[in-house]
Amino acid sequence: MENFTAFNPTKLHFGQNVVNNLGLAAAELGKKALLVYGGGSVLRNGSYHDTVRQLENKGIVISEFNGIKPNPRVEDVAVGAKLGRENRVDMVVAVGGGSVIDSAKIIAICISENCDPWDVMTRKHLPTSSSPLIAVLTLAATGSEMNSVAVLQNSQTREKIGFRNDLMYPVHSFLDPAYTLTVPEDHTAYGIVDLVTHCMEAWFGFGDASLSDRFVVTIIQEALKYGPALMKDRQNYELRERIMWAATCALNNMTMYGRTSGDWGVHAFGHTLSFLYDTPHGATLSIMYPAWMKALRERAGDRIIELGKALFNVSNVDETIENLTSFFITLGSPVTCKEAGIDDSKKADILSLMNKNKEEGLNYKFSDAERELVLKYI
Ligand code: NZQ
Ligand code: ZN
Repeated sequence: MENFTAFNPTKLHFGQNVVNNLGLAAAELGKKALLVYGGGSVLRNGSYHDTVRQLENKGIVISEFNGIKPNPRVEDVAVGAKLGRENRVDMVVAVGGGSVIDSAKIIAICISENCDPWDVMTRKHLPTSSSPLIAVLTLAATGSEMNSVAVLQNSQTREKIGFRNDLMYPVHSFLDPAYTLTVPEDHTAYGIVDLVTHCMEAWFGFGDASLSDRFVVTIIQEALKYGPALMKDRQNYELRERIMWAATCALNNMTMYGRTSGDWGVHAFGHTLSFLYDTPHGATLSIMYPAWMKALRERAGDRIIELGKALFNVSNVDETIENLTSFFITLGSPVTCKEAGIDDSKKADILSLMNKNKEEGLNYKFSDAERELVLKYI
């Protein structure tokens, strides 16, 4: 095992109506809140009204900032931070999916430090403080509700990148699976893909960590069992509940202990598709993971087979990739660019941006020629 520090300060409240405890938690953090949300789904699933009621009941003054986009933009984060500073808020309350929570994490730092959000993302400005963040999650996918990561994109530098800092754990996160009952078919599938691939990024990280490996396998087994069931029965609260908790556990550090990090190469490749074509995050991963495995069949072969044995009871690379691909297909998530509406003529642009940004994993490095190989398979 590699040395590690176990740390996760987020207080996570899980289950039906847990948002009823939000007012009390917020009142301990101050009197003014910046409420951040996206394009309006929260107005239709009850989470916005429940949160506002909780804040107002405690006399907390709310400033609203909405319009965060999926594949969130740094420009929007800058506007949100400015609003929060002007209104001298004591806390940020994010209601939505990963895009909203990620944006709110950087908004919270910029409110506290009056800094440029992209300088934070690129580590030019190393933050030492943050406004406290409360998250109300409405989509099971990213794990942002219980981790210290934010992912943003910048149209000027042509990048979508992640940043991690201990200041960015939400102080409280409220997870009511009932809010996810309205998540449409496609995003339900993308969320399941995302949680599975978070486990796989951990699996392919550097370090011999048998207990973390078992966590990985168990979390993916939850998704293999309950994911397809949920796709057939999206109004089923119990299934939403299982998938929501699995998604949180897939990226709250638990699968990472004993490794130096995860790999994250597939995520980096996927971010290129999101940046160029606004492809939803989970869709980029179901396209890229099988291709990444094919390109790495020699270098990562042993690890791919070990995962195949544990998950699908198969004993070679091809069968592992086939089973994984069929699982993504069962969910209804694309496994080729064409299925995501990106035709073959775009592959040169994809490769060029992947090479410009030198996309690769932390464990498995890639040459330009190997990136080209990945492109052949997507
Ligand atoms: O914008 P609104 O109207 O809220 O609609 C959203 C959006 O269109 C909708 N939605 C959310 N909750 C809903 C709902 N629709 C109906 N009912 C609900 N209850 O779903 C759409 C997608 O939302 P988004 O927040 O973009 O999805 P997700 O949670 O998958 O987040 C994706 C973002 O997170 C980043 C991704 O790169 C991407 O930018 N990631 C963040 C990570 C982290 N912080 O740890 C790790 C991940 O690997 C990932 O990179
Ligand atoms: Zn992800």
